[in-house]
Amino acid sequence: MTSAFDLLAAIDVVDPYPLWQSLLDAPPQIAEDGSFALVTRHADCAELLRHPDMSSDARNSTHFRATMTEEELKRIEKREVFLFRDPPVHTRLRRLVSKAFTPRQVQQLQPFIEERTRELLDAAAERGRLELVADLAYPLPVAVISELLGVPHEDHATFAGWSAVLAKSLDRLMTAATPEELEENRIASDEFRAYFEQLAEQRRHDPRDDLLTALVQAEEAGDRLTMDDLTSTALLLLVAGHETTVNLIGNGMLALLRVPGLLERVRDKPQLAEGMVEEVLRLDPPVQMTMRTALKDIEVPGGTLRKGGSAVLLIAAANRDDREYDDVLTFEPGRDDSSHLSFSGGIHYCLGAPLARLEGRIVFAELARRLVNPRLGELTYRDNRVLRGPAVLEVGFDALLP
Ligand code: HEM
Repeated sequence: MTSAFDLLAAIDVVDPYPLWQSLLDAPPQIAEDGSFALVTRHADCAELLRHPDMSSDARNSTHFRATMTEEELKRIEKREVFLFRDPPVHTRLRRLVSKAFTPRQVQQLQPFIEERTRELLDAAAERGRLELVADLAYPLPVAVISELLGVPHEDHATFAGWSAVLAKSLDRLMTAATPEELEENRIASDEFRAYFEQLAEQRRHDPRDDLLTALVQAEEAGDRLTMDDLTSTALLLLVAGHETTVNLIGNGMLALLRVPGLLERVRDKPQLAEGMVEEVLRLDPPVQMTMRTALKDIEVPGGTLRKGGSAVLLIAAANRDDREYDDVLTFEPGRDDSSHLSFSGGIHYCLGAPLARLEGRIVFAELARRLVNPRLGELTYRDNRVLRGPAVLEVGFDALLP
């Protein structure tokens, strides 16, 4: 294994776990020239996620600088997506968004999530069939983010289309994109930004009780979000919050179908849905890996990662590290342990974690309560190795209770 590209090429998207296990069992992997390292152990991943000299900004990577065109670099320069920034830019933008994205705002979404979940499952009951991804896992999170941001209902479908294109771009952080892929991504991103600029202007004149209005008004020590900051942030919330939650819901349905007795346990004790969310995240994480770049020479397992070199942190392997967990492969919703790295760690810890957890808890409890004798039908996976999850998940059932 000498690069992130080799790694992605080796992954079986249907079942990457034997590969993760073999890498976890093998000695640490680092390229001879120190340009690339693969980190699998929980303690090492957790440490590197918190390391002040490990950057989230791809512009610090020798490899990516070499593959980016001047034009791409200029575009990135102007658009501050704070997931891919280091302090102080990251600190400033994250703080502004956190101020607008409060626990109160997340909690307020609970009735909306419950209602949408009910409606989507009612529609499936009426049809007499359930394809979990298209019928529930895909539409629910996009409706929730749209509601949070304040996107009008009639635009939710357009919004979902952009999200599908933009999510693929995360895979491309690790591989070279084709010119067609870059173009597709550029178009989706430009359309999204134009749409949001116009919506933000409306909110400036006609404030509402939504996140977009809060972002427009976000101000701290005289520091306003520029329009570019605002659209970059809205775009980040869509990309970071959509496909990830789609995968959480899909992977959770699979757990209900495959883990013996789980469905009955959650049905009998709905509070267990909370622990179930943590175990789905741990054993089948929606984000399988992330990447950091060394700002100076850094000691990593197996050697020295050179300045400008990249480390892939394999979250999905780290969560199965038996140095960290007892009975590591047992799905146990009562574990009461959220030390998994599925929401990352350190300063980039997922801002949407409370929202994702709320959605997962509501959906899993409802699925366990309503589905009578569910059976797995067709299952295919999305062709995406970083944000991994089902593309089609047919569920047969005897009844879908009201
Ligand atoms: C199960 C669902 C989710 C998972 C597994 C997930 C996972 C992650 C991970 C792994 C990161 C950090 C990546 C890194 O350190 O390189 C992250 C960051 C982020 N997530 Fe999530 N996420 C989920 C849902 C959401 C939702 C629903 C939202 C918002 C609507 C959201 C918003 C964000 C934001 C804004 C960041 C950037 C934080 C920063 O850079 O400071 N996420 N997420």
